[in-house]
Amino acid sequence: MSASNGQVAGAVRTDAARVSGAVKVYGSGDTAVRALDGVDVGFPAGRFTAIMGPSGSGKSTLMHCAAGLDTLTSGAAFIGDTELGALDDRRLTLLRRDRIGFVFQAFNLVPTLTVAENITLPMDLAGTRGDREWTEALIDVVGLRDRLHHRPAELSGGQQQRVAVARAFAGQPDVVFADEPTGNLDSRAGEEVLGLLGRAVRGMGRTVVMVTHDPVAAAHADEVVFLADGRLMDRMESPTADRVLDRLKAFDTKSAARSGTSATMPAARSTEGTRP
Ligand SMILES: Nc1ncnc2c1ncn2[C@@H]1O[C@H](COP(=O)(O)OP(=O)(O)OP(=O)(O)O)[C@@H](O)[C@H]1O
Ligand SMILES: [Mg+2]
Repeated sequence: MSASNGQVAGAVRTDAARVSGAVKVYGSGDTAVRALDGVDVGFPAGRFTAIMGPSGSGKSTLMHCAAGLDTLTSGAAFIGDTELGALDDRRLTLLRRDRIGFVFQAFNLVPTLTVAENITLPMDLAGTRGDREWTEALIDVVGLRDRLHHRPAELSGGQQQRVAVARAFAGQPDVVFADEPTGNLDSRAGEEVLGLLGRAVRGMGRTVVMVTHDPVAAAHADEVVFLADGRLMDRMESPTADRVLDRLKAFDTKSAARSGTSATMPAARSTEGTRP
């Protein structure tokens, strides 16, 4: 809607978010874990990108560092042209509030607020009214018009996550990050949420980056980036669930061979029962 992200630039690709030489080490000494081991990846504006990889491969770490929820040990993270490491805490907080939306596995709605109040919370905190037309359109897109005065506890999990999606897009952020947004939902409610994310990108020109274990969920994205052992292994355009699953199986075989154990592979489990 607002032509902010340069999607109209044709062949010129603008990254809404990116990391460069991203290294994240948790802890130190013998117990140090290198969760990101030199990742260069961009998330193009106006596109839906999924991040996949085995459990522990660094997906959440990458998302948190790209979104300014955590800091890199070395390397740089950018939202548009803004380098997050160059911002003090106050500016980083403002950037997160004004330019980034979040959707978490556990919905994270405020239980005492109504649906309408939850959706406008980021704007209310910012002391702005936001774009009224945009908010109204969003309420219809997520199908919550008849639930606006309910509280989260009066909604199903799928409805709660749709509120969280509406809240994430309410302030027209440059990019919405979602960490396993369908992880707590059954396949039907999950499909609805994924459909919404897809429509926000294709119908409303927004940008989404989603971490998921589920190849069926990843197939909703325009592109999948694969992590393994804290490294970017591959990218896949126009993914299908079957191609994604095959790609993940290849990682699993490799990491099992390397560690001599059977690596955890939630993706293989999560497709069961969701594929026809
Ligand atoms: N706060 C932390 N302190 C120490 N180690 C951490 C911390 N957070 C993550 N790690 C480690 O960093 C690695 C990457 O973790 P991360 O949560 O990014 O993986 P993931 O790909 O999101 O896994 P999952 O699919 O299970 O959610 C793992 O080895 C994990 O144990
Ligand atoms: Mg994770």
